[in-house]
Amino acid sequence: MAKSGWKNHAYELFKKKTGKEVDLTETVEHAEKSVMEKAANKWLQVKWQLSMTINISWGEEVAGYADIIDTPSIPDCNIFQPGGILDIRIRFFNLTSSDDGVTDFRCAFLKFGSVQTDGPFDLCFMTGRVSPFHDISTLKEFTYALEDGKQGLKQWALKEPFNYYALVDGLRKLPDACTSLDYNSYITYSVTDDKNERHLFRFRLVGEGDHDKAKLTLEEQAKPWDVGRPDVELPSGNYLADKLLSVSRSTCYLKLQTQVRNVGVDGLKDSWKNPCIAWDEEECPWSDLANIALTQRIPKDAAERAHYSFSTLPEGVAIATMDGMESYADLVVALEKVLTSSTRTKIPDDPLLTNPEPEMTTYLISIETGYHMYAGTNATVEVILIGTYGRTPKLILDKNIHTDFNRASKGSYYIQAPAVGEIKLVKIYPHRGTMFTEWYMRSMVIFDLEGRKVYDFPCYSWITTEITLLKGQVTFAHKETDPDLLLTRRKLLAEKRKMIPWCIRDGLPSRVGYLKYKDLPRDLQFPKQREWEKKLILVETAVKLKLHRFMTMFDPFDSFRDFLAMTKVLEISDIATAITDRKNWKRDEEFGREMLAGFHPLLIRRCSHPLESFPVTDEMLKHSLDRGKTLHEEMEAGHVYILDYSVMEGVPRRSDSNPKYLANPLCMLYVKNNGRLVPIAIQLEQRPGKDNPIWTSSDRKIDWLFAKMWVKSADTHMHCLSSHLFRAHFVTEALAISTMRNLPSVHPVFKLLIPHLNCTIAVNTTGIEVLLQGEDSIFQKLLAVSGSELDFIRSAYRSFHWDDMNIPKDLAKRGVEDPDLLPRYWYRDDSLMLWESILEFVSRVMNIFYSTDDDVRADEELQHWMKENRERALPQWNGRDNGVPGNIENLSQLNEILTMIIFSASCFHAAINFGQIDYYAFGPNYPGSMKQPPPTTKGVTNMETILKTLPTKADQALSIAFAYYLSSYSKEETFLGDFPDAHFVEPEVREAQKWFKTDLNRISDEIKRRNMDLEIPYTYLLPENIPNSVSV
Ligand SMILES: [Fe+2]
Repeated sequence: MAKSGWKNHAYELFKKKTGKEVDLTETVEHAEKSVMEKAANKWLQVKWQLSMTINISWGEEVAGYADIIDTPSIPDCNIFQPGGILDIRIRFFNLTSSDDGVTDFRCAFLKFGSVQTDGPFDLCFMTGRVSPFHDISTLKEFTYALEDGKQGLKQWALKEPFNYYALVDGLRKLPDACTSLDYNSYITYSVTDDKNERHLFRFRLVGEGDHDKAKLTLEEQAKPWDVGRPDVELPSGNYLADKLLSVSRSTCYLKLQTQVRNVGVDGLKDSWKNPCIAWDEEECPWSDLANIALTQRIPKDAAERAHYSFSTLPEGVAIATMDGMESYADLVVALEKVLTSSTRTKIPDDPLLTNPEPEMTTYLISIETGYHMYAGTNATVEVILIGTYGRTPKLILDKNIHTDFNRASKGSYYIQAPAVGEIKLVKIYPHRGTMFTEWYMRSMVIFDLEGRKVYDFPCYSWITTEITLLKGQVTFAHKETDPDLLLTRRKLLAEKRKMIPWCIRDGLPSRVGYLKYKDLPRDLQFPKQREWEKKLILVETAVKLKLHRFMTMFDPFDSFRDFLAMTKVLEISDIATAITDRKNWKRDEEFGREMLAGFHPLLIRRCSHPLESFPVTDEMLKHSLDRGKTLHEEMEAGHVYILDYSVMEGVPRRSDSNPKYLANPLCMLYVKNNGRLVPIAIQLEQRPGKDNPIWTSSDRKIDWLFAKMWVKSADTHMHCLSSHLFRAHFVTEALAISTMRNLPSVHPVFKLLIPHLNCTIAVNTTGIEVLLQGEDSIFQKLLAVSGSELDFIRSAYRSFHWDDMNIPKDLAKRGVEDPDLLPRYWYRDDSLMLWESILEFVSRVMNIFYSTDDDVRADEELQHWMKENRERALPQWNGRDNGVPGNIENLSQLNEILTMIIFSASCFHAAINFGQIDYYAFGPNYPGSMKQPPPTTKGVTNMETILKTLPTKADQALSIAFAYYLSSYSKEETFLGDFPDAHFVEPEVREAQKWFKTDLNRISDEIKRRNMDLEIPYTYLLPENIPNSVSV
């Protein structure tokens, strides 16, 4: 690349010195070699492998990051992911001399990855636009010329005009720094895209600042072989290396650029692959591929162990082989041998170096492993500490004659290592294990004993491969000035995005992009290796409940007593006993109580005006309204409420040989003068008509009871699919994915939310496998909409609004917020207490990190998280705005959103999950799907009709086993107010957590006091019964 008007005068000078005419085309086009010549080249390659003698300087090695641009021009080849950040290391060295002062070819090796060996892609660069060699024999001539010094180079240069040209082109005098030069990779690569089109590409590294100005002057070009030290004062013989040592204090920036050529299916020209021919820059302009930031010097002993391989390529990438010549790939192998296997002159410990090796210090590294099964390892663990002054070599954590890293253990290791200043990052490498190489690390604490400092590194992850940990303190990307921390943060997020892909589904909350539980990344699976074969678990549960013998009885029950006998076999639920005691379940007041304080108290809403679709008259209710007022007056007074199951309308029912039925009822309820809620009218379908009578308590008792059963059957379906699976599980999973993809572990919102989002992806993935997929799935057996469950959820999602997750707003929207009008709504009362407590806790924590609304608006990561919540997690459907905000305007809105998510994942789920066994235990009270169609005429229902309509013994047994399983707490459960994982290290947060725990204890006492006066206590929202997350 011609810069600053510099020109290569080699051809004129060659002609002048030799008197020979120069024909450029002859010098760079190479005739096909004979079989003998090819064989000779092969032999040369073998010989080189055995006897390399060339001296190459060691140079200096540094580490940093390649920040891939968002639109790379190279087709996707598994490594250059748009927007990705890769760890890299680069070794800079002179081709021949350990003295940086002499004129020389300058070289760079670039490794993608931070490991010393077997990187996915290593690149080799040298100064100069064209390569001085194009095959093994010309490489041999070139290296021999280098070995012979000035005389050899002169002979070589004057042998061919192109040699002269390449020498002038590639030599560089003393530059300001290694990082101020341009380097070209002579190797041409090819990649085939998904349209089967082939692309060739080349790389170059472009230095920073006023780069590449150390080229030879016209005068120097006359004797380019006369390399040596210029007559100027230099700081030291290794001043380039010396200069690189400072990267840990001030980052160096370069660019990795590419030229790309689309060559279609064929149409390759050898000249395009020939490294001696530079590609025309107008035809193939250089474009940026990555911004390179070099931030850490690699210690000399670690650098000496590094191995580079230019013939190891990522999947999909090939070396563009040259037809008609011996394999160009062979040349790459030979070049690799020359440059990596030759004798290297080690840099002596030069007393003139201004940055000698850093002082040594002692680190005490303490590691805590996970508690669950298989959380330990017998592998040797290695770490690298990265600090403000550089990085340590790999430190081996191992004690002789001692079992390290057992599960649930803390191990401490005293390590002597170079003092790296303020520790910023830790890299952990699983290594050399025979078994159990995968392990779970809770946290690492590093004590710098001589620097007298302590560093906390929370981890709470499985170590399955190399990982990088950021320190525990909260930091913000937009305030981060340290490139190491900023780029690592972005790199970790880019990795998370790759690891946790979205699966966007039409009209549904988005899910994780894995179909099977076994395919989930380890950190998304259950912490304990719990193979969730639910059918097996259900059978075990059924055996435990002594229900197993019922599982194959496909006949109906003979009486309600028969149902009761099955419930009593269980002896598992006091509430089930209270519901069935003295036929309590048949009473209207019990029906009303269950809609306010049962396991699904979410649907009730105030009915303040008559409904056209539900033409209830005063005449129908003359025995129900006990204040002597008309229905309209009672509505206006706030005493009338409604349950509406219209969401289910239009969702296909199962209609095969084993049809199942479900109504779409409307149920009117009334708060009596004594404050008790009772149902007063039921219409089983949404549209009024002759075949759709309005049932009331004035009807025959058995008719009225049957109508109430149909409402409960609809309520079961709403609970199961809409409130539980959709609202609690799917919505939480979508927000969990967005949180993990967009917020790094050092973000306060990540730290706050992660205890509430753990395991939901795992439980949903296994749940869907067992509940929804296949003929044998549980919903297939139990629900009337089997096969159409997702249609049901789509219908529910159409009426979902973001504010439904906000408890005060939800209660106000449903008109049920006033305890004077609607007393004994314990779900409301307990939810509000918990909501207030969570909101206060969230505000106390967020106030530590955000002082003003501007702080919130300036937090790009936070804003991007909210944008993804709106656009991808809970996307709008068919243009309907579901109210998810696309950004966060202020601190109070942030606090509200976080409270909604925490409440939803903990309290909301607990309220509707853990009471299932209490209510499903007795089928007639809460039946699932029905076996006969809903009644259309009054006066025909009898006991036989009801028993034929209710679930069979097999279905009821399965339903109970399933409800029992879902209502059980896991042994590893953590509950609201428990913080076993110390994601936050700030003492102020610990204070807020303490306050939260105390406040939850207060709420618990209050609920228990209230419950003492109740016939059936409401316990689902006792804080000690609320798990932190949706994990079952
Ligand atoms: Fe659940």
